Amino acid sequence: MRILITGAGGQLGRALQEALTLHMLIPLARTDLDITDRAAVFRAILRRRPDGVVHAAAMTDVDGCARDPERAFRVNALGTQTVAMACAAVGAAMVYISTNEVFDGTKAEPYLEFDPPNPINPYGRSKWAGEWFVSHLLRRFYIVRTAWVFGPGGNHFVRKILQRADEQGTLRVVHDEVGSPSYTRDVAAAIARLIETGAYGIYHFVNEGMCSRYEYAVEILRRTGRSHIPVTPISLAEFPRPSRVPPFTPLRNLCGASLGITLRPWPEALQAYLAEEGWLVA
Ligand SMILES: NC(=O)c1ccc[n+]([C@@H]2O[C@H](COP(=O)([O-])OP(=O)(O)OC[C@H]3O[C@@H](n4cnc5c(N)ncnc54)[C@H](OP(=O)(O)O)[C@@H]3O)[C@@H](O)[C@H]2O)c1
Repeated sequence: MRILITGAGGQLGRALQEALTLHMLIPLARTDLDITDRAAVFRAILRRRPDGVVHAAAMTDVDGCARDPERAFRVNALGTQTVAMACAAVGAAMVYISTNEVFDGTKAEPYLEFDPPNPINPYGRSKWAGEWFVSHLLRRFYIVRTAWVFGPGGNHFVRKILQRADEQGTLRVVHDEVGSPSYTRDVAAAIARLIETGAYGIYHFVNEGMCSRYEYAVEILRRTGRSHIPVTPISLAEFPRPSRVPPFTPLRNLCGASLGITLRPWPEALQAYLAEEGWLVA
């Protein structure tokens, strides 16, 4: 298949390029294609006529989205609308990467693909609006929700924890935000399998299991030989942010599993990533 990737310069975009090597790829980073430029999006997709588009470009700075919601909607909602319209124009199937933040975090159990979204911050609302456009403008689409993404080159939680641990020698991490860490390579590999199925719909591709930010930080420090760094558990209320945080958003992969597509438990994925970066000691 000819597959065009938006946001190809991002952490997931890069992993997608490695996972989709059996296909003919058209990877477009932000400098190649700004998804808020409608004419440029149509030009790119109409000229190249891909069979599929993996739309990974997004404004992913959750607090930045809260500070500038209009920009969040321009990129994440309207940018996705444009990509979906261009896919419709050439008959391309679309994979839209979405997020755990479409949920409000009040459920007592991990969220299924069939649970109703109810986003509580501008990032979540803009991504949910993107989902709406994709599902209303196209018949052949996959919405792939992932969460707490880490991988080579990303500015993610794992990297930030290690940086802060080394700079400050002590950490304060929230214990009442719970989610599902996800390794870019595992998510990209799952997407590569999904697009072979033709089973269009909504998917939750996260590494198996869940943890609090506090538990996650402790695990990162332990596996990188930094167990001596003291970590104080704090509550979300003690760590005010511009964006409201949905407190409990682990995702459950029911639909992917029914196709035989599962992701390994997050501690194994974290171990693999730390080894890849050369940070692993335990
Ligand atoms: N990171 C997470 O924890 C997480 C969790 C759930 C879902 N997701 C979703 O996963 C997808 C991939 O995110 P990621 O983790 O790979 O984040 P990322 O590394 O920030 O990648 C996003 C990419 O989109 C690009 N971008 C931003 N605005 C753009 C625009 N107007 N036009 C074209 N490209 C633009 C960014 O370019 P610049 O770097 O130049 O801004 C960046 O390369 C996104 O859809 C995101 O919503 C991410």
